Amino acid sequence: MTRYDLALIGFGGVNRALAQLIVERGDELATELGFALRVVAISDLRAGSLVRGDGIDLAPLLAAKPGEPGFAGLPGGSADPRTEQVISGVPCDIVAEATFTNPADGEPALSHVRWALEAGKHVCTTNKGPVALHGRALRRLAAEHGVGFECEGSVLSGTPVLRTARRLLAGLRISGVEGIMNGTSNYILGRLEDGVDFPEAVKEAQALGYAEADPTADVEGFDVQLKVVILANEVLGAGLRRDDVSVRGIARLTPADMRDAAARGLRWKLVGSAALREDGTVDARVAPVALPVEHPLACVSGPANAVSFHTDLLGAVTVSGPGAGRVETAYALLSDIIAIHQRQAVPARAVLEESLHG
Ligand code: HSE
Repeated sequence: MTRYDLALIGFGGVNRALAQLIVERGDELATELGFALRVVAISDLRAGSLVRGDGIDLAPLLAAKPGEPGFAGLPGGSADPRTEQVISGVPCDIVAEATFTNPADGEPALSHVRWALEAGKHVCTTNKGPVALHGRALRRLAAEHGVGFECEGSVLSGTPVLRTARRLLAGLRISGVEGIMNGTSNYILGRLEDGVDFPEAVKEAQALGYAEADPTADVEGFDVQLKVVILANEVLGAGLRRDDVSVRGIARLTPADMRDAAARGLRWKLVGSAALREDGTVDARVAPVALPVEHPLACVSGPANAVSFHTDLLGAVTVSGPGAGRVETAYALLSDIIAIHQRQAVPARAVLEESLHG
């Protein structure tokens, strides 16, 4: 049976949840999908690094609190994350990158992805930074090295948006994409509808674990801006940068705005969209929009997310599901690993072309 050796970069919520999935579902995956997974290296800023060529025993690591007591006392462990050494030097097949998103320059995740691809390793990442800022160059690098670069978790966590577009909607012409892509802001809008004021709704979203400690990127639209860049580039073949996507957040909306909209049969939503113009350029934006209640995105409530693809033969096709969460995002990595496995059976030329034009 095929076995993939993994290096986990970042051992916070997402990669710990992936490790848990491997522990709990490893046998099931082997039976159903025909491959086994083994973690041979972990690098984490807080815990350090751990390398075991014969496979790391994950259960004791998962029983400990994140970052504690660190890997230094374990065989093959060090207090130093040794990230480049782990990625480039430790023999493995797939690097699972799940460090924090840096929207300014994508680092350090961008370097993590580059090192892995240059070392001939497949990469799966949940990190929006490298994908939004350098997706095309990374795909080219992956193709040059004959490996996969998968990033399903960069948009809507494990809800299959990118793969739906690439695989299930193949053969359709997609002229635009629009979606509710931030659970925090969608939850807050729902609470404004309930009459709760904005600061209180933000506090609730933080207490429920939806919003970041600093919710600025959530409520001001910058989180969605990165996701729009990714969708426009990956699905519409655009070459957008962050600044090409105009952004307006929800911070100025009030319960009174919600009531006025409801009286007119409308619901305010924070919508991220990208639409092909006649001349082939793309109009991309993030803004609050008062949608008619019968619009496919209007009924998406609470922290749920949804993305609609506008297609020529089917009209709007909408995918809805969670947009965040440790386990949900870890599933995105697992789905990327499955995609990498399935691509091994595809002729090399087709893989190269999908990587370049994908
Ligand atoms: N904080 C985001 C949200 C998830 O609330 O949807 C990560 O992009």
